[in-house]
Amino acid sequence: MKISLFFAFNALMLLQVCILVFAQARFSNETDMQALLEFKSQVTENKREVLASWNHSFPLCHWIGITCGRKQERVTSLDLGGFKLSGSISPSIGNLSFLRSLNLGDNSFQSNIPQEFEGSVPTKGVFQNGTTVSVFGNENLCGGVIEMQLKPCIESPRQKKPFSLGEKVAVGVGVALLFLFIIVASLSWFKKKNDKISYEELYNATSGFSSSNLIGSGNFSDVFKGLLGLEEKLVAVKVLNLLKHGATKSFIAECESFKGIRHRNLAKLITVCSSLDSQGNDFRALVYEFMPKGSLDMWLQPEDLESANNHSRSLTFAEKVNIAIDVASALEYLHVYCHDPVAHCDIKPSNVLLDDDLTAHVSDFGLARLLYNFDEKTFLNQFSSAGVRGTIGYAAPEYGMGSKPSIQGDVYSFGVLLLEMFTGKKPTDNSFGGGYNLHGYTKSVLSCSTSRGGRTMVDEWLRLVLEVGIKCSEEYPRDRMGMAEAVRELVSIKSKFFTSSR
Ligand SMILES: *[C@@H]1O[C@H](CO)[C@@H](O)[C@H](O)[C@H]1NC(C)=O
Ligand SMILES: *[C@@H]1O[C@H](CO)[C@@H](O)[C@H](O)[C@H]1NC(C)=O
Ligand SMILES: *[C@@H]1O[C@H](CO)[C@@H](O)[C@H](O)[C@H]1NC(C)=O
Ligand SMILES: *[C@@H]1O[C@H](CO)[C@@H](O)[C@H](O)[C@H]1NC(C)=O
Repeated sequence: MKISLFFAFNALMLLQVCILVFAQARFSNETDMQALLEFKSQVTENKREVLASWNHSFPLCHWIGITCGRKQERVTSLDLGGFKLSGSISPSIGNLSFLRSLNLGDNSFQSNIPQEFEGSVPTKGVFQNGTTVSVFGNENLCGGVIEMQLKPCIESPRQKKPFSLGEKVAVGVGVALLFLFIIVASLSWFKKKNDKISYEELYNATSGFSSSNLIGSGNFSDVFKGLLGLEEKLVAVKVLNLLKHGATKSFIAECESFKGIRHRNLAKLITVCSSLDSQGNDFRALVYEFMPKGSLDMWLQPEDLESANNHSRSLTFAEKVNIAIDVASALEYLHVYCHDPVAHCDIKPSNVLLDDDLTAHVSDFGLARLLYNFDEKTFLNQFSSAGVRGTIGYAAPEYGMGSKPSIQGDVYSFGVLLLEMFTGKKPTDNSFGGGYNLHGYTKSVLSCSTSRGGRTMVDEWLRLVLEVGIKCSEEYPRDRMGMAEAVRELVSIKSKFFTSSR
């Protein structure tokens, strides 16, 4: 698009040059002749005899009173001093574009106001320089530049000099070009704005959505690894799979609003695709930056996914604290700093992605709201039955009772995630059931360790981290900690107990 814009701009410049050259060519000695004949016609009839040689059949440069330049046959000097001419000075003299000297002195030109220009001396061209123009002895002239020492003309509304043809052409062309440029630029901008990626591009990028490129499956989507574009950028393509017909427009509109959401701990949404697949079905996909270190669940429960990335080591406590702070910061941003609070609704380890230096990026942010907004019914069906099964344990209890997505629900999921990271137990562990869950388990572990008096069982820092997890995963939304407070707590724990930065 840039290239074609550049080309269009150059073409316009070329056009402009051509027009200027053309316009210049038209102002030839022919123009000079026209101007002088026009001048002659303004001279009083009985005085025209003097200018008899000013006729079509006689070469211009030999007309009386005329001097031409040596190179081009253009009029450079007009000397009519003492010719006793009368009448009015035609402004057509202004068309003598090579005129350098003009002597109209000792004549009887007179002003003829109210006729349009007659009488007032032009101020353009040669008339600009009073020292090269002589008009003395023309009692009735007015105007001109100060050096001519003529009386000022009486201003009449139509006194203004019109633009010469050249000026008109230049201004007209300039304005036209400006408009053209604006149109081209805005068209290209508009096109760029709607520059969504196509199904074919994603198909090629992921080798036809091949299973070898499948890197994850979620409730609402499958995620493929892909190489996009000429620069072969590594991306994660999330193909949504529950959308209905006719949602294209709202999907795009919603995605646009999510594009404005930016935080270092949120996976970066590169582009979106909304089109038809090869069978003509609606196809929706979100393209994210690829995260080379995979998702958090692969690090926490490596035995679950034997085929998944074999990380040679597990995370250190300091790394875990950093990741917890990253996730909390991302949620704080979504909950507090977005102009329109966004609930993530699906916080769980598999939605926390790690980049090369193990910085965590929350993915799928706002996806739940996005889906919810344009297909509430389908969303709630999915969410409360099949959809939520995979993330049971992370979903807040009120969601099971049909509550809408909320930021308090995210806090609950974050609390569970935090407890899982630091207790090493999954919320879906077989030992949990009924009212007994990870939250209750952690509480009992902590109370045991403190009731024994000594604090040796659980390190101080770990107790503080787990307490944050407990306060976040309270059963009732109103009892839960806010995300901003959780961030503050975790950061203070980090600075107190883990001096090393990441
Ligand atoms: C044109 O000017 C020349 C030179 O003064 C003169 O000889 C000739 O008769 C003029 N022709 C006409 C048609 O006036
Ligand atoms: C204009 O100039 C050309 C050559 O530059 C010349 O042949 C032609 O006669 C000129 N026209 C007049 C009216 O003098
Ligand atoms: C200057 O020349 C152009 C083209 O020959 C003509 O249309 C215009 O009227 C001339 N200007 C004046 C002030 O005579
Ligand atoms: C006017 O013309 C004279 C003689 O050609 C020149 O010396 C002077 O600089 C010109 N003044 C302006 C303002 O152009």
